[in-house]
Amino acid sequence: MCGIVGYLGKKDSVPIILDGLHRLEYRGYDSAGIAVMEEGEIQFIKNAGKVSDLSRLIDDSVLKGSIGIGHTRWATHGEPNTVNSHPHFDRTGKIGIIHNGIIENYNSIKEVLLNKGFDFKSETDTEVLVQLISEIYYSDGLSFEQAVQSALNQVVGAYGIVAFCSDEPNKLVAARHGSPLVFGIGDDEYFIASDASPIVEHTRKVIYLDEGEIITITQSGYEIRSIINDNIINKISTEIELSIDEIEKGEFPHHMLKEIHDQVHTITDTMRGRIDPSDGSAHLGGIAEQIDRIKNAHRIYITACGTSWHAGLMGKYLIEEYARIPVHVEYASEFRYRNPIINSKTVVIAISQSGETADTLAAIKKAKEFGALTVGICNVVGSTIARETDCGVYTHAGPEIGVASTKAFTSQVAVLFLLSLCFRKDNGPTGKNFSEALFNIGEQVKQILKNSDSIKDVANATFNSDNFLYLGRGMNFPVALEGALKLKEISYIHAEGYPAAEMKHGPIALIDEKMPVVFIASNDETYAKVLSNIQEVKARNGIVITLTDHVSNEIKKISDFIIEVPKSRHPRIFPILASISLQLLAYELAVLRECNIDRPRNLAKSVTVE
Ligand code: F6R
Repeated sequence: MCGIVGYLGKKDSVPIILDGLHRLEYRGYDSAGIAVMEEGEIQFIKNAGKVSDLSRLIDDSVLKGSIGIGHTRWATHGEPNTVNSHPHFDRTGKIGIIHNGIIENYNSIKEVLLNKGFDFKSETDTEVLVQLISEIYYSDGLSFEQAVQSALNQVVGAYGIVAFCSDEPNKLVAARHGSPLVFGIGDDEYFIASDASPIVEHTRKVIYLDEGEIITITQSGYEIRSIINDNIINKISTEIELSIDEIEKGEFPHHMLKEIHDQVHTITDTMRGRIDPSDGSAHLGGIAEQIDRIKNAHRIYITACGTSWHAGLMGKYLIEEYARIPVHVEYASEFRYRNPIINSKTVVIAISQSGETADTLAAIKKAKEFGALTVGICNVVGSTIARETDCGVYTHAGPEIGVASTKAFTSQVAVLFLLSLCFRKDNGPTGKNFSEALFNIGEQVKQILKNSDSIKDVANATFNSDNFLYLGRGMNFPVALEGALKLKEISYIHAEGYPAAEMKHGPIALIDEKMPVVFIASNDETYAKVLSNIQEVKARNGIVITLTDHVSNEIKKISDFIIEVPKSRHPRIFPILASISLQLLAYELAVLRECNIDRPRNLAKSVTVE
């Protein structure tokens, strides 16, 4: 949520920051802005709209400076217009700030400042913060970094900020509490950003700021301190593994399509080196030390949001099947505010692509308070959830830039399967056939991508629909939920996922000749039952779209469209392949509806606020 980037060095910061904003645009794209400082003089340009709009304005300007800050916004307080966009400035115009997060007590601070004669141009919490810094700086005789620190000690909420002040030129101050910040160390230049993507083409040497840390960056070096107690914190830099190719979309029109295609190899990448497909034994270094505690757990909670929560539902089927440990799957936003029955015999698995989702992070904190063991499944290396959990497993799906999650989802499912094998007791099913089939899933993913005509046909016939229903049984139920979520997110068509048999208990009232119903029918014990459900929809003139790996005469007769899913050597492969077909279906529908696929309205990739 919101992307922030700062630069201090000898080069012109403008192109560096603009490139960084383009890379961070997946985090928020309501508005964007940049401010630079040169010889103690601040200039800025900000604008409602995309980074490309900002870029055009900058092309027509003389903006230039060797120190700068830039922001791409996902609006929380105040509508996405130019006034509310970042950077924000204090009343003297000498202090500028960019902010990701929410200052919860901004109203009470604003009232105090209003009483002192301050006035405000925007509706944002961020402007309140910069005015508070200004009030402290110009009245308490502190250095700029001390004033920022003092202000941060008065605010409640979440922030990742970068600020500068023209009275102390050539200095950037950044701090984090709840919103990630990565600090990049180049040759005579420094970078600070919400994630490593704006930094990687300049340097691989980074430091991940931890919660409650503030950094002062000058031309002669940097210093990290604790916001609360001012102690100096010595941190060792690490090397980023990310490559530029991974964050570019190459020949694909959209990141989402590239990421759907990446699944030819990403699921195998997730499993590589962690499984011996010949005997189905799995080894996950990240949880090895805790494995006895996990095997003896009385219950497992899986907590996550959105697509990651759907992966968690699939994980329930896998862990209960292979490890025979009871699993409860809960939205992190609910879990964090309940009084769940957890203790030291409970394992709480948190799933998060970004590793930064505020609710999931809070759920982990809660689980820890109750003495549970926390396990993270994250895609972004070094992310907060990866670091806050007691142990964990990376999905290694590579950077996911498209806002709608695709390859991260299938890799999360692969990790959950690996976990289920690690947790299994000696007498449980070995998972050998499934591991072999999953490790080699790439060929079947290729087939889906090659034979996508049937998916395009469905899209052509249904792109004007207002609603869709997705129905599946067993492990195909989470696939139905995920298919519906993908469609809603990127095409803005209303869609619901249901267990197929639940249709009769309500949703069937919606069926008419305008309602496309996607059935996910695998060739297993549920096939005949799903066939009956299809008949029920057909009898009410619904548009039947069947995804299946068994095209029987009967299914042909009652389906308006069939999307064939490649046959596989293990029944648990079908739901994964079906979810990839549904990602493509959502994509094709969104293309026909001319939607902004990589940046759907109102969404952001990393939800760092509640
Ligand atoms: C859906 C989607 C969201 C995320 C959710 C959790 O395509 O991307 O529903 O899955 O916001 O995000 P992470 O996994 O980063 O915690």
